[in-house]
This record gives sequence, C-alpha cells and structure tokens, in this order.
Amino acid sequence: MIDQGSNNTEKRVALTGFMGVGKSSVARHLASILKCERIDLDAYIEKNTGRTIADIFTSDGEPAYREIETQNLIRVLNETSARIISLGGGTWTLERNRGLITEKGIISVWLESSFDHCWANISKSRKERPLAKNKEAARALFDTRKSVYCLADWHFIVRRGLNSYNIAVEIAEQVFS
Ligand code: S3P
Repeated sequence: MIDQGSNNTEKRVALTGFMGVGKSSVARHLASILKCERIDLDAYIEKNTGRTIADIFTSDGEPAYREIETQNLIRVLNETSARIISLGGGTWTLERNRGLITEKGIISVWLESSFDHCWANISKSRKERPLAKNKEAARALFDTRKSVYCLADWHFIVRRGLNSYNIAVEIAEQVFS
C-alpha cells in the first residue's frame, strides 16, 4: 500500500537509464499513480527550443545539445513543480547534471534492462535517436554507461514480463513508502 503521508507529497524522482528502457512510460504511470505532475526532459527541450532533438544533434552537434539539455534541466528543477522527471538517456551521465539533481534532494532511479530489451524497443519506436542509429555503437554506449547509471540512489531491474505499469507500482511502493 502506498503511504501518501506528508513526507511523500514532497518527494521528487528523476528516472534514468538507457534509451528504450521505458523511462517515459514508467514516468507517465508513476505520475498517474501518485497523482502528480511529471515532465519528460526530451519533450520539454523540444517544446522550449521549437526543434527536434535529432535536429539539434545534427545541426549543432552533441556538445551543444548537452548544453541545451543542462539549461533545460535547470529550468525543470527550478521553475516547475514536476515531481516525476524522466531524463534523457545521457542526462545522468554528466557529472554536472547529477550534481544539479542531487543538490535539489531529488531521488534518482535507474531503470536497468538488457541491451537486447532496450534495442528491441528502440527498433520499434518512432522516436528518432541520434545515438542509436547503429546497433554496435549503441551497445558500446550501453556498456560504458552502466558504471554511471549505477550511481543512482535506487535501482530497478526491468525484468522480462514486467510492463511499465508494474514497474511504476514497484517504484511507488518502494521509493514512496
Ligand atoms: C540520449 C537519449 C535520448 C535523447 C537524446 C540523447 C542519450 O533520450 O535525450 O537522443 O544520450 O542516451 P531517451 O533515453 O529518452 O531515448
């Protein structure tokens, strides 16, 4: 049973994990279970810049994208009351972003799954992902990032057969109890 006591109404969570693991859909279910506001950082960036992430990557390059990402993360943290934030897959990998999230007392949650599971979702998704155009390059990124994702406060394994609603329920019960 989820305790909706006063402490829990203040808790904020940032979901991290590799592309295709399901951060956005888990965030959507979690916000609906907890009846609170959520923000998807990628969507927020696209709304604020009026550009797609793919266009920013292609026209301006990754370092410029990462600057924009950090600026928008700062806005989400300071200017919105969203309690559930789904990050982009690379957001948590930058030390400066981890610092911003931690300083605000936001609980970080890593959704972990196998590369094959993430890749299957990437392959069937319509979302354009500039860093997942090539399977072997994406696998190398996946392997490199594990050691940084594991710095998150909580770790949930997206097991076979668990859908994003089930994971949101687990997070709500364990992180918000
Ligand atoms: C990225 C992941 C994407 C998006 C951008 C970069 C990454 O978000 O932020 O393409 O570096 O892993 P998703 O994890 O939601 O696909």
